[in-house]
Amino acid sequence: MKVLVIMGSPRKGNTYHAAERIREIMQEKARVDWEYVMLRDLNLEQCRGCANCIVKGEEFCPVNDDVSGLTRRMHDADGVIFASPVYSLQVTGLMKVFIDRHSYILHRPRFFGKKALILATAGAVGISEVLKYLDAVVHMWGFEVVGKAGIFEEFIPGTRQLENDQRLREAAEEFHASLQRKSPPRPGFMDIIVFHGLRAIFDELGEVFPADRAYWGEKGWMEKDARYFVDVPVNPLYNAVGVLLEKYQRRQIRKDLRETNHRVSV
Ligand SMILES: Cc1cc2nc3c(=O)[nH]c(=O)nc-3n(C[C@H](O)[C@H](O)[C@H](O)COP(=O)(O)O)c2cc1C
Repeated sequence: MKVLVIMGSPRKGNTYHAAERIREIMQEKARVDWEYVMLRDLNLEQCRGCANCIVKGEEFCPVNDDVSGLTRRMHDADGVIFASPVYSLQVTGLMKVFIDRHSYILHRPRFFGKKALILATAGAVGISEVLKYLDAVVHMWGFEVVGKAGIFEEFIPGTRQLENDQRLREAAEEFHASLQRKSPPRPGFMDIIVFHGLRAIFDELGEVFPADRAYWGEKGWMEKDARYFVDVPVNPLYNAVGVLLEKYQRRQIRKDLRETNHRVSV
């Protein structure tokens, strides 16, 4: 099994050591092909805000740096650990740049079948915010988030060790077990709502979002009988609510378009 760690800390400190502990625990069970991406070592530029990646396609991004290699490495891994210390109650700037540069994947998800573990370290506050944020982002990218570990720095040596180690062990074991599983998870209610909500927008507003419209079309997600991004059983009640919501949203968008045209023409 191949694990990639995306390291959002600018040093080999607490977060790196926590990731190493996860590696040790996983290797008690099986050989793991383990790789780090230290974001600090990459040529990773800030997003320039043109939105070309979202509107036209990621190949139109004007920045030529190490991002595309990074995306490929996530595709090549079976599981990815997204690791960040808490900086000012959120992920580090490095991690945020990495996420922003992949913003188009929120519109065009692609990592289905891949597992993710979220790792955050902090002095005292902000762990839950960072775990929640990273979970939301990579889940929308298509990853199945199977483990989360929030670790506190030890200001007095020995005081947090047992608790931290327990959290790392639980997350590492869940992650390891998930990497043996092949069957994709069943989507939750919000997954279905997001699927139908995005479909209404990208289909009705295909001129505004041509890359999204084309990608969803290629994937077969625009087909009437498509119920989710992947072919898995969908709770019929969730599906019914999603279909209704999509109808309502399509009608609303068409109404807005008619009214705007009317205003422009008078
Ligand atoms: C610039 C900066 C901002 C930080 N902000 C917070 C914070 O908001 N909340 C917190 O609990 N810890 C905060 N910390 C502490 C780090 O999250 C903590 O020491 C973390 O384990 C560092 O990880 P690292 O050793 O992998 O770099 C901050 C540290 C730095 C350097």
